[in-house]
Amino acid sequence: MDFAETLLSWYDTHKRDLPWRETKDAYRIWISEIILQQTRVEQGWDYYLRFIDRFPDAKNLAQADEDEVLRLWQGLGYYSRARNLHTAAKTVAKQGSFPTTYEEVRALKGVGDYTAAAICSIAYNMPVAVLDGNVFRVLARYFHVELPINSTKGRKYFAKLAQELLPEAQAGTYNQAIMDFGALQCVPARPNCEQCPLRDSCSAFHQGDVSHFPVKERRLTVKDRYMAYVFLHQNGKTLMHQRIGSDIWRGLYEPLLIEFEQKPTDSEILTHSVLQSIDTSLVLHERVGILKHKLTHRTLYIRAFDAEVSQHANIPSGYQWVDAREMSQLPLPRAIELLLEKSMP
Ligand code: ADE
Repeated sequence: MDFAETLLSWYDTHKRDLPWRETKDAYRIWISEIILQQTRVEQGWDYYLRFIDRFPDAKNLAQADEDEVLRLWQGLGYYSRARNLHTAAKTVAKQGSFPTTYEEVRALKGVGDYTAAAICSIAYNMPVAVLDGNVFRVLARYFHVELPINSTKGRKYFAKLAQELLPEAQAGTYNQAIMDFGALQCVPARPNCEQCPLRDSCSAFHQGDVSHFPVKERRLTVKDRYMAYVFLHQNGKTLMHQRIGSDIWRGLYEPLLIEFEQKPTDSEILTHSVLQSIDTSLVLHERVGILKHKLTHRTLYIRAFDAEVSQHANIPSGYQWVDAREMSQLPLPRAIELLLEKSMP
């Protein structure tokens, strides 16, 4: 058996029964793939079911309020995925049906090379190979590819290799087979090579350096950012506003935020001009210790404070007072949800 046949045979006995594997509906496969972009299967499972239950097709999703879409996404993080889904659903609804060519699928907002290949191969059995973290790892080990997976040269090499290996008549099944194989068998740490059907022909296994793969180029792009959230209270309500702008948290709600380039001292926070302009006699009570929240390109160090503001406070525009019930309904960044879970004032 060659590489692809071995994977297909392995998949036949080991494949995971996942809710989106019961359908060939491109809309549902699209939703599942977007959820799985930055989320583990176990966590994404329930979100997928709830999402499909509420929005069974693109038209339903297109007609929804963005707030409702974001709320269903709450807890998954990376909210641009939800916003892009919403935008793309409007495109699909306008076109009348889900696109059926690779180019049209790839043109949907939020759909990159990986997702277009996954949708087209799984829903339409188009012969396009997927490349995700699992596929990179399996190929890098089996073929002993030393090129870094995050370099342009490496990406090109892996894309060509993956495409050459793809059995065209079973593209969708094969793509899912190699992804499951990476997720269950050829796992990042301590893979079970003793019982691996590809072992005899796996280059890394024979050279004894499985753990060396995949090779990644080191990049020092993770930036630290320091944030202080101040929950301002009055008459049992809390001051919140909806984020505008173009970043990943656009449309989500947050309390007053002060950002710093460097780690601030307590007095730099308290004497910050934004707080001083609201109320010069604020007393800040810290909620929890520093919350460290890792995103792909930055690490956030977040502190949270509570403060009562007087009736004479100078409330900035764009803010609204919300009670506890309303608060639980607002779409919030994952970092704020974590803060609220960790500490009730
Ligand atoms: N990860 C993301 N999408 C997947 C799929 N369709 N099968 C297996 N793993 C996946």
